[in-house]
Amino acid sequence: MNAPVLRYGADYNPDQWLDRPDILVQDIELMQKANVNVVSLGIFAWATLEPEEGRYNLDWMAEIIDKLYAAGVSVDLATPSGARPAWLARQYPEVLRVNADRKRILFGERHNHCYTSPVYREKVKQINQQLARRFGRHPGVIMWHLSNEYGGECHCPLCQQAFRDWLKARYGTIEAVNRAWNTKFWSHDYPDFDAIESPAPHGEHSVHGLKLDWKRFVSHQTIDFMKWERDCVREIVPDAKVCTNMMYFYDGIDYFDMAKALDLATWDAYPTWHKPTETIEQTALDTGFMHDLIYSVKGQPFWLMENCPGPTNWQPVSKVKKPGVNLFAGMQTVAHGGDGVLFFQWRQARGSSEKFHASMVSHDCREDNRIFMECAALGRTLREISAGVAGTPRARQAAIVYDWSNKWALEDAQGPRNKGLSYKHELLRHYAGLSRNGIDVQMVDQNGDLTGYALVVAPMLYLLREDFAQKLRDFVAQGGTLVMTYWSGVVNETDLCYLGDAPHMLTDVLGVRRTEIDALYDGESRRCTALDAALPQAANGTLLCEVAALEGARPLMVYDEDFFAGAPAVTVNAFGSGKAYYVATRFEEAFYTPFYAQVIKGVLTPCWPAPLPDDVLASRRGDLIFLQNARSTPVHIDGVTIAPYAAAIYRQTDGKPELLYNQPAFTWSPVK
Ligand code: GLA
Ligand code: ZN
Repeated sequence: MNAPVLRYGADYNPDQWLDRPDILVQDIELMQKANVNVVSLGIFAWATLEPEEGRYNLDWMAEIIDKLYAAGVSVDLATPSGARPAWLARQYPEVLRVNADRKRILFGERHNHCYTSPVYREKVKQINQQLARRFGRHPGVIMWHLSNEYGGECHCPLCQQAFRDWLKARYGTIEAVNRAWNTKFWSHDYPDFDAIESPAPHGEHSVHGLKLDWKRFVSHQTIDFMKWERDCVREIVPDAKVCTNMMYFYDGIDYFDMAKALDLATWDAYPTWHKPTETIEQTALDTGFMHDLIYSVKGQPFWLMENCPGPTNWQPVSKVKKPGVNLFAGMQTVAHGGDGVLFFQWRQARGSSEKFHASMVSHDCREDNRIFMECAALGRTLREISAGVAGTPRARQAAIVYDWSNKWALEDAQGPRNKGLSYKHELLRHYAGLSRNGIDVQMVDQNGDLTGYALVVAPMLYLLREDFAQKLRDFVAQGGTLVMTYWSGVVNETDLCYLGDAPHMLTDVLGVRRTEIDALYDGESRRCTALDAALPQAANGTLLCEVAALEGARPLMVYDEDFFAGAPAVTVNAFGSGKAYYVATRFEEAFYTPFYAQVIKGVLTPCWPAPLPDDVLASRRGDLIFLQNARSTPVHIDGVTIAPYAAAIYRQTDGKPELLYNQPAFTWSPVK
């Protein structure tokens, strides 16, 4: 086994440059200068690889893989299913997706094929196996990049039938489906499986159980398609390693499920750095949540498969990354358990919609271009720190429950606030509160194992499965600390409301019982005051205000206005050998750092032994501590100066952490 190394590179699309051999030569030279050691090759190259049905043109790729290998650049070889050639759409229209309005799309764009179509699967099999036969044993091919950003849904007749079959396997009988979805409502009982149709704007969209199961089916069917792609490759190369690139808070696929079928989890990050409403630290925390989620879906080091070295072209305003921020983003990936930092893309395209999307190499083709110089500096840094960092896992400290079924049900429910519940922001507040206390976070879903965590945070766990409620009970009984919020334990796994006291199965654990929930308009808030000196003395509840009756818990904060003044807003309860906190409303962001400072006392040890200045991020990998300066000015920590946007890496010891690496500043000025 080779020792793991940090991987650095980009999407590489030489199929756009085959008429420019000079460019292909320069590519290799510049890759070496930038310390690139991996590229994702041929993601959208199907039309070049198979210009007509059954006629394969792989020689150009063979030459490129050989040249890359000779230059020390490995290949993450793509299956090209993310975008199909025109001949395929013309000859077999069934591969084209049908939208929810039952209209079949025309040829064009990408990521829009039917995941069920046997024809699409067969054509994908043929091209994948051509690639596997020709390149699967090449020593330069270290990974397979299955398709690209799987997503979306198809409502064609083939998918309708597959949905019905999936329901049959899940429920057995149509009576069981009707019960699970409460179809007596509006007389919507289904006489048989054939009567079931996917949700449609001009059809059914009020049976929430149906909509939830449709989401589950779409996720299942997409993963099934991905497994098909994987197995086509593995039929030829049984030990082929596979990954695919996941997306920022993507709703349509349960990534915990998807990751089980992969060897490596990866994702594509496009944060809007420098937006006027957010500091670098805030943007970094948002990105940090995703890094930790992608780490958690497999519980092992991941790759950042795409990020942008400068401005994108598709955000409402695409800003440049200020000098040093690209390095900052790369180091943050590694600090959170990333073993690969890759960009979209290697070289800026000449035409079509992404021609202004920044790339490692810009249209000027110059190596003294600022973006290239910063990319080269990042490549150097990753090479320098690789040994000792690559492959290092992260320890379990705190877990946030992030569960796709819950998200689907919560966001679809018609309830107290149809203006939106901004579930993501609830999650991010808890995450930021923990991170700012130097606590490492991983995410678990309701199939997850809570072993090893000292703290579990379950924000807005609206859909709560009884088996998971039992896991939470056991976790607290055995000494764990639980934080649960308003709007939890409301429905079961088919979206039927639980009867009896709520949060379901947890009122004795939390020592509170929900009585009502009030919704607030945007801009409205309800003042709360603390009964406990360690918590913020005043904080405003927003969005939803749950009114709970105390059943043994100790109130830490209470509402201070409205008819529910005096009702608990934050409580703690002892249960078994552990304790459980309950937060009845959505507080402003500032509440969560002091709140978690209190929660972790005696429960978890922060990364850094002393308080850190604001805007310094701290995280751990094994016994390594990463401190990152999110400011545009230097910070001084215990005798060490960390340059603007730079990182310092320490080894944890019993006493003072030992400094191992202090990243030099990346400075650049347009003024010579
Ligand atoms: C996505 C895709 C890439 C590219 C980038 C642009 O993440 O996977 O092919 O289009 O966006 O930001
Ligand atoms: Zn379909």
